[in-house]
Amino acid sequence: MDNKLKLPLLVLLLNCFLFLALSQTASNDDVEALNSLKDSLQINIPSWVGSDPCSGSWEGITCKNSRVVSISLPNTGLKGQLSQNIGSFSELDTLDLSYNKDLTGPLPAEIGNLKKLTKLSLVGCGFNGQIPDEIGSLPQLVFLDLSSNAFDSTDFPQWLLTMKNLTTLRMQEANLSGQIPAGFFSLPSLQYVVLSENQLNGTLNLGPNYSKKLQLIDLHSNSIGDFTQQNQPPSFTIVLESNPICYETGTTESFCKPLQISDENPQNKCPASGVYAFRQKLRAERAISRNNPFGNWDPSKSNCGTPELKAVKQFSFKELKKCTNNFSPANDVGSGGYGKVYKGTLPSGQLIAIKRAQKESKQGGLEFKAEIELLSRVHHKNVVSLVGFCFEEGEQMLVYEFVPNGTLKDTITGKSGIRFGWHRRIKVALGAASGLAYLHEHADPPIIHRDIKSNNILLDEKLDAKVADFGLSKPILDYDKDHVTTQVKGTMGYLDPEYYISQQVTEKSDVYSFGVLMLELITGRKPIDRGKYIVKVVRNSIDKTKDMYGLHELIDRAIRDGSALNGFEKFVDLAMMCLEESGADRPPMSDVVKEIEIILHSIGLDPAADQSEPSTSSSFQHNEVSLESSHQPYSSESLYSSSEYIQKHHEHEPR
Ligand SMILES: *[C@@H]1O[C@H](CO)[C@@H](O)[C@H](O)[C@H]1NC(C)=O
Ligand SMILES: *[C@@H]1O[C@H](CO)[C@@H](O)[C@H](O)[C@H]1NC(C)=O
Ligand SMILES: *[C@@H]1O[C@H](CO)[C@@H](O)[C@H](O)[C@H]1NC(C)=O
Ligand SMILES: *[C@@H]1O[C@H](CO)[C@@H](O)[C@H](O)[C@H]1NC(C)=O
Ligand SMILES: *[C@@H]1O[C@H](CO)[C@@H](O)[C@H](O)[C@H]1NC(C)=O
Repeated sequence: MDNKLKLPLLVLLLNCFLFLALSQTASNDDVEALNSLKDSLQINIPSWVGSDPCSGSWEGITCKNSRVVSISLPNTGLKGQLSQNIGSFSELDTLDLSYNKDLTGPLPAEIGNLKKLTKLSLVGCGFNGQIPDEIGSLPQLVFLDLSSNAFDSTDFPQWLLTMKNLTTLRMQEANLSGQIPAGFFSLPSLQYVVLSENQLNGTLNLGPNYSKKLQLIDLHSNSIGDFTQQNQPPSFTIVLESNPICYETGTTESFCKPLQISDENPQNKCPASGVYAFRQKLRAERAISRNNPFGNWDPSKSNCGTPELKAVKQFSFKELKKCTNNFSPANDVGSGGYGKVYKGTLPSGQLIAIKRAQKESKQGGLEFKAEIELLSRVHHKNVVSLVGFCFEEGEQMLVYEFVPNGTLKDTITGKSGIRFGWHRRIKVALGAASGLAYLHEHADPPIIHRDIKSNNILLDEKLDAKVADFGLSKPILDYDKDHVTTQVKGTMGYLDPEYYISQQVTEKSDVYSFGVLMLELITGRKPIDRGKYIVKVVRNSIDKTKDMYGLHELIDRAIRDGSALNGFEKFVDLAMMCLEESGADRPPMSDVVKEIEIILHSIGLDPAADQSEPSTSSSFQHNEVSLESSHQPYSSESLYSSSEYIQKHHEHEPR
């Protein structure tokens, strides 16, 4: 070999070596940065042992290919200032340091180096100074929450207008002033905008091209004086309560009502200073203890709604007694281990479902409050929403919107009298999946449902699915690990097999339960039917070489012999992916949503179509839903059943 050849070879080798060395240093950088973070923020998490943050044991740290991709440390008692080192996690996807009130000082501009960041959540910390413009250079950001810090007053940041991927913006109590530029609402992915409790002023103008995906604009408690409505009023929720535009007496606009329901009882209103003092106290207490974040709540002094509870109403026992006709048996629509569920009518005419705890199942006041706080933050069209609660005279009641067409279970079993065709079943799967994806990926804090099953999927007036019953839910990344193992949650037949081994519930446990639900939709059978486990039965019967995967005999009679089941194989494939033994092999719910949308598209249906529009809905309305005359849909008794609910026998079935 002459020298002319040797040199390039050497360069090549050297390059390889350099490349290896560099990729090695990259992850070393992460280790170094994380260790410096650990020291500077006084992180004291017992599982952070050993020198490798990617070993899998470091709670709150997720790695991929030896790079840190997620730092998720909410409510962990972090103290001090975030150093510019934070900018060195160049593969970081998620940064969540919320509810660490002793995290103070300015946010370092280096946060703008995290080019792969999709989720940034810094709620309820003590950050001050200016919000760095560099956040605007995070092109992938999908979720941004900077609520409740101590930032300097600033105009609505112009850089927000460039965030093309943003779906959720939450900057409550963020000292924002001036007018929101109309162009902001035309960000194509935008869904949730919560900018309440700021000093935003001028005119609310959505502009002509606002995002079609918008679900909520909550601007309560600002200084907005006007609202330019386009020719057609928007179909999503806008809240302008406690803005000058709503001060005039007699304002009846729906956007002047508080989120969910108006506070009809002036006695429930607190004097402004009282609310302020309460809030200050609450802020101070917010992150005191990770074991009991609500440790200082004194239910006896709970007349004033806390800021977190603003969206829901506190009902008096008297009010609920009245609207259920003294909890009359005629209004009793379900019962079980927890207590009874009553249907009621508010003076406004709104129908509600009241879950009334019986003595034995009452929680501590703090747990009850925690549950309400969690539920009150959940807003999605495919999730049943909390209207209010009652905590008085020894009673604990949760008040939900009433969902009129009963449970999916009653429909699958034929009990409710409603019959679904194949397309409608796919639609319902899409609705339930969207609700669940929202809980996992967009609720704040994210929520694992833990008890997904057909009796927890309710059907609204348009027969769209709503996910119900969060009695067993927990925020994702719960540090109170002691409570995780104390009781088995969920329902036999739907339980993630991994749960038995790890005793840990994850989002993927819900994905598994959802897979079981999909099989129910296909087969019309219970998950455990005459001793046979539906997942096993289907898994063992699938023969991909055959038409309909050879599952013809297992398909629900109600759909088997009708028109062709288009998209059937894809639907089965998706269900089986959700039912993978290992959680890591199951898709996240947002992928499940996308996949079901693809199935609907492939069979010529528009997933986004509103069923109330006759032009797009005929295929659903006319052929897909039928009613058996001998049953009344309203008689469905298991409205809010959860795992512990026993179905009440219905003595007076109307004929
Ligand atoms: C808002 O900003 C001003 C100065 O810009 C500051 O004095 C004030 O404390 C801030 N308010 C809050 C609630 O952080
Ligand atoms: C951001 O949007 C682009 C273009 O629509 C897309 O390719 C990319 O996947 C999005 N990123 C995220 C994290 O959603
Ligand atoms: C809005 O507030 C800003 C100060 O933040 C002020 O300069 C401006 O005049 C106000 N605009 C209106 C319409 O009140
Ligand atoms: C809205 O969209 C239309 C059509 O794409 C475009 O002509 C118009 O300039 C847009 N308006 C604004 C304010 O962006
Ligand atoms: C569902 O509920 C609505 C409202 O109560 C009712 O009008 C509708 O007929 C019900 N649909 C079916 C198929 O029962």
